[in-house]
Formats: sequence, structure tokens, C-alpha cells
Amino acid sequence: MSWCATINEGIMFVHSKPMLRKSSLTVWRLWRSWKLSLNWSAVRASSGPGASDRSEEMSPVSTEKPPHIPVMLKEVLHYLDLQPGQVVLDMTFGGGGHSKAILNTAPEVTVLALDRDPTAYSLARQLAKEHPGRVKPLLGRFSELEVPLSNVNIQPGSIDAVLVDAGCSSMQMDQAERGFSLSRDGPLDMRMDGARYLDMPCAADVVNTLDQQALASILTAYGEERCARKIASAIVKARRVNPITRTQQLASVVAGSFPAAVATARTDRLHRPAHVATKTFQALRIFVNDELNELLAGLRAARTLLRPGGRLCVITFHSLEDRLVKRFLKGEDLSKLDHFSPRKESKRREEKVGDGEGDGGSADWLPLRRKVITPEKDDVNENPRGRSAKLRAALRC
Ligand SMILES: C[S@@+](CC[C@H](N)C(=O)[O-])C[C@H]1O[C@@H](n2cnc3c(N)ncnc32)[C@H](O)[C@@H]1O
Repeated sequence: MSWCATINEGIMFVHSKPMLRKSSLTVWRLWRSWKLSLNWSAVRASSGPGASDRSEEMSPVSTEKPPHIPVMLKEVLHYLDLQPGQVVLDMTFGGGGHSKAILNTAPEVTVLALDRDPTAYSLARQLAKEHPGRVKPLLGRFSELEVPLSNVNIQPGSIDAVLVDAGCSSMQMDQAERGFSLSRDGPLDMRMDGARYLDMPCAADVVNTLDQQALASILTAYGEERCARKIASAIVKARRVNPITRTQQLASVVAGSFPAAVATARTDRLHRPAHVATKTFQALRIFVNDELNELLAGLRAARTLLRPGGRLCVITFHSLEDRLVKRFLKGEDLSKLDHFSPRKESKRREEKVGDGEGDGGSADWLPLRRKVITPEKDDVNENPRGRSAKLRAALRC
């Protein structure tokens, strides 16, 4: 059986089981368990931008203007409440906005600066030179954290604070050649650490190789896209003519699957005009980078690393992530995520406990605020990208 058939079968299996149909973590687990046996280089040669294409197009990030405006900075500093001499793990260093603010406002604090993206890692190394002895740059994913941390002699239960600012950075979004952007044309890549894992499938590999049902599954699970089947069908038709290798090409294929009036009528949750392919791009990005499994691995690592009384701040940007964090902090067994539709389950729970914030923590966590924290109006005006951010803060028991 070919690798492609094997993956498609895995995702079709998800479809054939009503209990699993919309389970976002399951889709990736199935993909991952099968993809180990794939020859992705061969796929990319025929469909994706290709490793060599990508490295040629890679350009250095300018450090003159801030590469990423940190979200809810004031609130993060407040809830981390760092004291002189403490150690904080910034698990999502990105452009270093949060880390820099920590270094400047919290004297004698040491920052462990992790990111999976080698570009962010080189910025962390730069910052380490500017603050000798106070920044330890770490390259890797949440799920790989053990190795870089043991290299700097960090033991479980020894960290005072952990920050997770999930998702991708403006630095990644704004560089057309990274392939995340809907508005700037580039190779359809979307891998946060493709430069480290050249065999990792990129977004072009996904859209050009999976069957229609598997694509629809991904768009439903990770984009909560109501028109997933229609979009998947348009993708499959378009790629028969030409492989889809560019971001603008995918955006037009998605837009072309809707009548013109519908394609321009979509709005986001704040009623601002939104491109009809926004959810498709989100879904592919989450899938390609295994973002939900990674987030769960990150939260589990934080639980292991924080000392009793240590503080955790997690910023998320869409409901799939926020639901995961909320339930993790309540101490729920998230291995059960495989057994229900996230959307239905969350509705059921919210009906049961009012605003869904009411049952206040678990044996492991004490919430620092009962309600989820959202950015202030002024912050949103200054940094519209942070408009959907949600912060949850908790104390390690
Ligand atoms: C929203 S940005 C963080 C921005 C940062 N707080 C700042 O102020 O500049 C998220 C960053 O997390 C990184 N990231 C996402 N998932 C990750 C993972 N599983 N492991 C490590 N880094 C990750 C991304 O590469 C990206 O640079």
C-alpha cells in the first residue's frame, strides 16, 4: 500500500467512527503514526515548493523594527509576578517581546528562551549577548524540551514561572517565503521549523496529496470550517490541473469555491471582513505543525517543571487552543479528547457550568483569575493581530 493511501485510510477511519469524527488531536495522531513511513522528499519534488526552493527564498529577518508586538504584555508581567533571582521559561520566544520586557522590568531574573523556529533562536542568541548570563537560548519544540533543558541543568520542579504565547509570530506570518500569509504570495509551506526538519511535510504536500475526505476532515477539525467539504472538493479539482504550490493560488481556489457574494461577505468574530480562506489557512497551519498536540505537550512540561507556587501564563488565539488550556487547568484527562467533538463537548460543559470558568482549578492548578483575560481596547487598536488573544494564568499547587 502506498504511503498516500495509508494516510488517507487513517483519516477516513476517523470519518467512519462517529465518536471520533471531529477529534482534532486524533487526526494528527493518525497522520503522525503513519507519516513515519513516508518518503516526503519524493512528494515534495512533485507537489510542494521543495526544500531547495524554500532555502533559496529564505531571507534574514530585519531586527530594526520589532518583529512581533507582544500581546497583553502588562497582564503577563502582572500574573508572572517575577521576583529578583527567579527563573522564567519563555516557551515561545518568537521576536522576544515578552522576554525583553521581563529582562527590563524584573531585575536579576534569568530567562530560558525556547522556540522551535531557528530564526527565533538566533534572535534569542542575540539577546543573550546583550544580557550576559541572563538569557539561555533553547532550540526545540515543546515536545522536545527535555533535552535542551537538561543541557542547561534544569531539574523538574525548579522553575518559578512559565509563559506560553501559542501560535505563530508576525515574523513568521509577514515573511511571504514562510508560506503562512494569505495576503502575500509565497511558497505554500507553513512549517515553523521546516529548516530543522527538511522531511517534515509542508502545506503544499498536504493539499496536493491527501484525498478529499481527509482534507475536509482537517478543515473541519482545525479550522472549524463549515464549508470544509466544498473547499476540499475545489482543492482536489484544481490540483488535477496544476499542483497547488503558492499561498495566493490556494486562496483563489478556496475563494473560487464560493459564489462571489459569499466569498466577500465573511466576517471574523469581531465582525471585521475576513478572507474566505482564513479558516483553511488556520487549519493547514495547525495540522502541519501539530500545534494542538504540541500545546498539550507544552502544558504537561510546564506542570513538571514549575515548583509549587510557580506561575503559568498561557496566551491562545483561537478556541481550539483555549478549550485545551481551560480543560488542562481544570485537571481533566485530555487523553479523552479523542472521544468527542470538541465543539459539542465544550457547549455541553458551558451549559452545565455557566460561563465555563466556574469550577476553579484542579489538584495541580489554582487559577489566578476566574475568568479568561482578554486584551484591553487600546491594546487591540495598537496591535489588531492580538484581538482574539486569551490569557489564562494559574498557580502550580
Ligand atoms: C506568538 S509567537 C510568540 C511571540 C513572543 N511572545 C514575542 O513576544 O515575540 C509564538 C512562537 O512560538 C513558537 N512556537 C510555536 N509552537 C511551538 C512549539 N511547539 N515549540 C516551540 N516553539 C513553538 C513559534 O515558532 C513562534 O515563534
